Amino acid sequence: MARARVLLMVTGGIAAYKSCFVARLLQQSGYSVKVAMTEAATHFVGPVTMRALTGEAVATDLWGEGQSEALDHIEYARWADLVVVAPATANLLGKAAGGIADDIVTTLLLAFPGPVLMAPAMNDSMWRHPATQANRQLLAERGVAFVGPGSGWLACGTIDTGRMAEPEEIVAAVRELVADLPARDDEAARPAGPWAGRRVTVTAGPTLEPIDPVRGLINRSSGAMGYALAQAAVAAGAEVTLISGPVERDAPRGLARLVKVMTGRQMAEAVAVALTAGCDWLLMAAAVADFTPVNPAATKLKKDELGGAWHLELERNPDILKDVVPRHRGRDLTVVGFALETGDLVAKASVKRVEKAMDFVLANDPTEEGAGFGDQAHRVTLIGPDGVLWQSDSLPKPALAVQILDRLETARHGRGA
Ligand code: CTP
Repeated sequence: MARARVLLMVTGGIAAYKSCFVARLLQQSGYSVKVAMTEAATHFVGPVTMRALTGEAVATDLWGEGQSEALDHIEYARWADLVVVAPATANLLGKAAGGIADDIVTTLLLAFPGPVLMAPAMNDSMWRHPATQANRQLLAERGVAFVGPGSGWLACGTIDTGRMAEPEEIVAAVRELVADLPARDDEAARPAGPWAGRRVTVTAGPTLEPIDPVRGLINRSSGAMGYALAQAAVAAGAEVTLISGPVERDAPRGLARLVKVMTGRQMAEAVAVALTAGCDWLLMAAAVADFTPVNPAATKLKKDELGGAWHLELERNPDILKDVVPRHRGRDLTVVGFALETGDLVAKASVKRVEKAMDFVLANDPTEEGAGFGDQAHRVTLIGPDGVLWQSDSLPKPALAVQILDRLETARHGRGA
């Protein structure tokens, strides 16, 4: 399959140094990458660095003079499937919104008809300025996708909004746009991806255990992590089955199968079916209820009949990892579970890894700062047979999921699998 071709445009802001990481991550994710830089950007990052990272000539001016190594500039716009502008300065947003083409980057932008992703970065006052916001709005209406800016330390020494999205978030956004690209020529434009040919099953969300037709027991889980992992696995080229408990989320595009379940028992059955059909990776991100009501009522229980105190009888649900997976486990399956622990994270999660026959466990402590529920940033620790393999930064879940897959891949190779 053809690799998607990404033209990375770098404009002149302090965040330009991060565009080196964007270029490298794009390459590691299987894309072909070329770079165009404004003159101002070359004051922050040398074109030589970009050339070394991409192995491609870097376009820096319209005339093929100065440091520019690229001759036929418009050829860059014809070549690309997707353009990423990172960082996109306030100046760039203004010029792009106004259709100005007075340097290599703005000229290529105007000449490029395909999808564009911008990662703005600037001082918070500049970001909030009505002119910048109007430019952003106009560009968004024309179909430009945006990632960030986020909040954090800005180069001007304040903590505020204006910081460029992290390279992992930018690459995650690229993956989403690439998934929507039409096939180029007679080939699919998405890259073969490091997970091509792998069958991956992901469980996500909570399970809901009915008490009666209107009540149920449910774990606190938004499904964000599982859905992000499924999305990242699709983008990496895998054949993905997503088994989801009840959550209000759009299924990632490109899934091979989406199995919606309600209870822990239904999830256990769906996992057994997926493993029997053939599976290389099982990522158990679901928060399965450990207990379920004995004999759920067929009709709504009335509170007056229940009295002043209600003793609900619960029984254990099957433990999917412990009881179900071993019975359906193929030889090549790698099992990854999650462990949610408060305090003593590594020790408790390591015990859980062994008890639940996981190859790897992704542990997190929800009481720690930066390890949040739902769509908040999240932090995980990857543990294998020899202990801690990796501790992530606190990242938005889509970006974290991309890193998790990369780390799992490396960890699995490390085991000689
Ligand atoms: N899990 C499972 N089947 C269950 C419950 C949990 O397969 N019935 C999986 C989860 O998907 C997760 C891992 O087990 O990957 C750990 O879940 P966690 O709730 O942390 O583990 P418990 O064994 O329920 O732990 P505890 O004893 O701390 O409640």
